Amino acid sequence: LLGIRHIVLAVNKIDLVDFSQERFEAIRRDYEAFAASLGFRSIVAIPLSARFGDNVIAPSANMPWYGGPSLLGHLETVNVDDDLAGKPFRFPVQFVSRPHLNFRGFQGQVASGRIAVGDTVAVAKSGVTTRIKRIVTMAHDGTDCDLEEARDGQSVTLVLADEVDCSRGDILSTATERPSAADQFGCDIIWLSEHPLFAGRSYLLRTETQSINATITEIKASIDINTFVHIATKSISINEIGKCNISTQQRLVFDTYEENRATGSFVLIDRISNETVAAGLIRHPLRRAENIHWQALDIDRIARARQKKQQATVFWFTGLSGSGKSTIANFVEKRMHLEGRHTFILDGDNVRHGLNRDLGFTEADRVENIRRVAEVAKLMADAGLIVLVSFISPFRAEREMARQVIGPNEFVEIYVDTPFDECARRDPKGLYKKAFAGQLKNFTGIDSPYQPPLNPEIHLQTVQHSIEELVQQVYEYFEMHNGI
Ligand code: ADX
Repeated sequence: LLGIRHIVLAVNKIDLVDFSQERFEAIRRDYEAFAASLGFRSIVAIPLSARFGDNVIAPSANMPWYGGPSLLGHLETVNVDDDLAGKPFRFPVQFVSRPHLNFRGFQGQVASGRIAVGDTVAVAKSGVTTRIKRIVTMAHDGTDCDLEEARDGQSVTLVLADEVDCSRGDILSTATERPSAADQFGCDIIWLSEHPLFAGRSYLLRTETQSINATITEIKASIDINTFVHIATKSISINEIGKCNISTQQRLVFDTYEENRATGSFVLIDRISNETVAAGLIRHPLRRAENIHWQALDIDRIARARQKKQQATVFWFTGLSGSGKSTIANFVEKRMHLEGRHTFILDGDNVRHGLNRDLGFTEADRVENIRRVAEVAKLMADAGLIVLVSFISPFRAEREMARQVIGPNEFVEIYVDTPFDECARRDPKGLYKKAFAGQLKNFTGIDSPYQPPLNPEIHLQTVQHSIEELVQQVYEYFEMHNGI
């Protein structure tokens, strides 16, 4: 999976079997039989005793029958023939040097291939081409020095012949063999988090130079690491390897991992906890991503909203079942409507009868529930509407995803803060009673978690305030921010 081609089979504790050549050969044969189908290019078996130092640094006198290298000797000389120099030129831009250096230079490390002054290069994302004017590096005495050529592994500053649009995170490449630029691709991921992966959840995808919002759109299989069999699954647990499709919010520039390890790998980061939850290897861009292009529309969200004399906004009400989300949203909408605003309410109970009627209340289904609602709210905001969304939306990750999808400036998170005991006491739909009696599974606050917002734009404490006061609190925020 990782593309490892050369193996050292270090057979340790050989002193405990009296430096037996027979035991060693048996282990080597077993391993070679096991690895026969894995396609390694070399397997070097070394008998050693780490405790006494046999064959660790120097050849051991205890094993005259062994004629191969010591472990360190082998590691220092093994030719891993990973021919990065022979691969197409890739230069992830890490830094654009400032004007006081009297030239605009692109700094980074050559990830693969080589480049010479005068060569044509392309900015991978846009395909715009130019030529290399100078290759500058730092000499031993700290001064700048010009090179004719640079190759993989070298850190240099490239000066281009033309002013092209290129910034941190872009990749400079050969003009003829450019990397892919797509917003959907297939990959293998190694899941590193205690908390399993579900499709639909959004993460920060980071490559060497790019940082983009990404969603795992489909889990196709998990791979059994003992048999390499693909197993159909809906979630990936810690240390499991999964085959997935990923979709990113903007186009990502990449190679496949087979083509180039530096530009073909990534990590996924949980935006809330900052935990690295997965390491990924890109396998292939998805055709549908290459062939579906955004349709550029001349009338946009702002134009549509302006015609309605308002600013498109999504008020996102979150809170426990029975906390009062729908009641408050309903009052707020009535007041906006009376004032001539163009509004729409998306309510969990209603949307779950139509668009989302295939979804239940497992964690995976709630993630998908909120993903769809966020997309619908975004379309409605694009239509210029003021949207009131009333869903429990129990997970921070999905609310954060909604904020990103809709646009942080148009997203207003409203925490309808009613203590669990109070919700259970009010129990407007009799659901708490059922859940306590064990007749309703995965009920929020009982056997399914609720993660309260950490920094909501509006915090409504329903126990201390009347409904009029709560509606007023939302309204004041609205009037202050709706500049039209
Ligand atoms: S969410 O968690 O996925 O955001 P959503 O807001 O759509 O939930 O739906 C919540 C509504 O579904 C509740 O107000 C309640 O009426 C109903 N419901 C039915 N079963 C459950 C359950 N197990 N947990 C929470 N709400 C439930």
